Amino acid sequence: MSDTMQAVTSRAYGGPEVMRLEQVDRPVPDENQVLIKVAASSVNPYDWHFLRGSPFFIRLAASGLFKPKNLVLGADVAGVIAQVGANVKKFKVGDQVFGDIGAAAFAQYAVANPEKLALKPKEISFLDAGVVGIAGLTALQAVRDWGEVKAGQKVLVNGASGGVGTYAVQIVKALGAEVTGVCSTPNVALVKSLGADHVIDYKKEDFTQNGVAYDVIIDLAANRSISDTKRAMAPVSKWVLVGFNLKNMLMGGLFGRWLFSEMGKAFVLKVAEVTSEDLETLGAMLASGEIRSVIDRAYPLKDTPIAIEYIETMRAKGKVAIEIE
Ligand SMILES: NC(=O)c1ccc[n+]([C@@H]2O[C@H](COP(=O)([O-])OP(=O)(O)OC[C@H]3O[C@@H](n4cnc5c(N)ncnc54)[C@H](OP(=O)(O)O)[C@@H]3O)[C@@H](O)[C@H]2O)c1
Repeated sequence: MSDTMQAVTSRAYGGPEVMRLEQVDRPVPDENQVLIKVAASSVNPYDWHFLRGSPFFIRLAASGLFKPKNLVLGADVAGVIAQVGANVKKFKVGDQVFGDIGAAAFAQYAVANPEKLALKPKEISFLDAGVVGIAGLTALQAVRDWGEVKAGQKVLVNGASGGVGTYAVQIVKALGAEVTGVCSTPNVALVKSLGADHVIDYKKEDFTQNGVAYDVIIDLAANRSISDTKRAMAPVSKWVLVGFNLKNMLMGGLFGRWLFSEMGKAFVLKVAEVTSEDLETLGAMLASGEIRSVIDRAYPLKDTPIAIEYIETMRAKGKVAIEIE
C-alpha cells in the first residue's frame, strides 16, 4: 500500500472551483479506527454547506472560522477495510462496509470510527451502499423516530424525488402508511415507481390548499411558511422539518409550542445521528429489496466538483454518486 493517495481537497472556503484532485498523504488509523479503501461515496447538501462554510454559524460550530478544518469532504462511504487499529474488534481486513463517516471520503482511502459503519450486505453493490449514508439515515430517523409514522396514517413527503425523499417515500410505504409525494412534473413517474400512493406535482397543485390533512409531514424541501404548512396538518399531527429553512427553524424552534398550540399539533426539528444499528437496518432493507437507492448520476473521483455543482442546483433525482478506483 502506497503512503500517498489521490483525494479531492478544498483548502479554502468557496464553490466547487476551490476543489482540487491532489496526491496527499494516506491517512493512518489510530488504535480505535479502521482504514477503508473507498469504492464509492456520494454528495449531499451537507458537503456543499461545509465547502462554502455557509451558513456562517457552521464555521463556529464545526468547520473552521477562516479555512476548512477538513481538507477532504465526503461523508458517505462504501469500501473494503484495508487496516484495523489494535483495539478494533468489530471488523477485519477485507470486510466490505458502508456508512457515514462525516468527512474525508472523497479519496482513495479514508479512516473511520467503526461505530459509523456497518457490514455491506453481499446483495447490494458498493455504489448502492455508498450513497445511502446521510440520506438513508435521515429518512429512516425522520419517518420512524421523529415522525413516529404508523401503519394506516396519511403521510406527506415534501421533496420526494431528492436524496432523502426517495428513501423516505419507500420507508413510509414499508411501515404500511399511505404516502403522498410532492415533486416537480419530470419526477412524478419516479416517485410513483417508489410506491407513492399519490403524487402531487407542485407545479400544478398546492398541497397546502387542496383540503387534505396529513398525520405526518416529512418536509425536505422546507419551502413553505409555518401558516401554509399548518393548513395541511390533521388535528393530531407532526410536521418534521428536515430541510434547511433558517426562518422556520428559528420560529419553530423558539416559538413552536405557542405556534402549534392547537391540540395535538407538533413541530419536530432534529439532526440525523449515525449509528451502526440504523445502518444495519438500512442495509437489510436494501438487501431484501424493501427499499432501493435511486442513483441519478455517478461521477469519477476527479469530477467530484461537478457532482457538487449538480447537487447545488437542487434538481438531483435521488442520489449523486462518486465512484472511486
Ligand atoms: N436534518 C438533517 O439531519 C438533514 C440530513 C440530511 C439532509 N438535510 C436537509 O434536507 C434537505 C434535503 O436533502 P436532500 O439530500 O434530499 O437534497 P437534494 O437531493 O439536493 O434534494 C433535491 C430535491 O429537492 C426537490 N425540490 C426542490 N425544490 C422543491 C420544491 N419547491 N418542492 C418540492 N421539492 C423540491 C427537487 O425535486 P424537483 O426537482 O422535483 O423539484 C430535488 O429532487 C436539504 O435541505 C438538506 O440540507 C437535513
